[in-house]
Amino acid sequence: MFDLSGHAALVTGAGQNAGAGIARALAARGAAVAVNDLVAERAEAVAKEITAVGGTALAVPFDVTDRDAVREAVARARDGLGRSVDIMVHNAGIAADFGQGHFRTLEPSRWRAPIEINLFGAMNCVSAVVDDMCETGWGRIVQISSGAARTGSDQGLSLYGAGKSGVEGFMRHLSQELAPSGVTVNTLALGLQTNAAGAATEVFAQKIPTRRLGRPEDVGAAVVYLASPEASWLTGQILNLNGGSVTS
Ligand SMILES: NC(=O)c1ccc[n+]([C@@H]2O[C@H](COP(=O)([O-])OP(=O)(O)OC[C@H]3O[C@@H](n4cnc5c(N)ncnc54)[C@H](O)[C@@H]3O)[C@@H](O)[C@H]2O)c1
Repeated sequence: MFDLSGHAALVTGAGQNAGAGIARALAARGAAVAVNDLVAERAEAVAKEITAVGGTALAVPFDVTDRDAVREAVARARDGLGRSVDIMVHNAGIAADFGQGHFRTLEPSRWRAPIEINLFGAMNCVSAVVDDMCETGWGRIVQISSGAARTGSDQGLSLYGAGKSGVEGFMRHLSQELAPSGVTVNTLALGLQTNAAGAATEVFAQKIPTRRLGRPEDVGAAVVYLASPEASWLTGQILNLNGGSVTS
């Protein structure tokens, strides 16, 4: 079950935290993994870690908001891994100039980054891999989102929420277009992760029914299922992975 050997995955923003957990988990199930990050050293370190334990991985540093760079890297991944990408996980979602703060305090110059990385980043990555997936009749597209797409808060997340809500809408419609071609499209909406909470980690953890924050391995395990052959009848869904903090 959940055997991914013979498949090639691209994971964006996989140089640390959730993305690294996804890359490791897919590789552990046998997928050859193209490890992307904007920061080349991070991608290289994760790829090296995977190959050191017997997995297959290739670092492909690029900026998901640069369409040409994405296309070029996907071709490089195909050559390097020996097969075309048929599992694409768009995890990169937090830009360096993130624009967090209450909307009234944010200069218009900061509105763009969260939309670019989440929405245009997803479009760039999908467009670079989707034709090959449809031609072979098998593909898995997984988008990493957040509870902030559907739940309002006063934590300065309005632009982030806009980017994540936008990409969730994109995925919803994409799932309907691609289902007849054997390509599933699902979204994993994360609750707060261990790397996000800073000094207030314990306070946040106690508000979650499971009394802990999310870990990279939690995210990796859920993505393995969504990427697996066994999940062929699951598409167009948003799966909440949040320790029970929001139920629906
Ligand atoms: N951390 C949380 O609590 C949390 C909660 C809900 C959802 N999420 C979502 O989970 C995903 C991963 O979050 P994280 O906290 O692990 O992120 P992170 O910031 O720890 O890591 C993201 C990685 O993406 C890379 N990156 C940034 N911009 C990029 C770009 N333009 N192109 C390629 N790579 C780029 C960064 O260099 C970094 O290594 C994101 O989509 C985030 O929105 C996170």
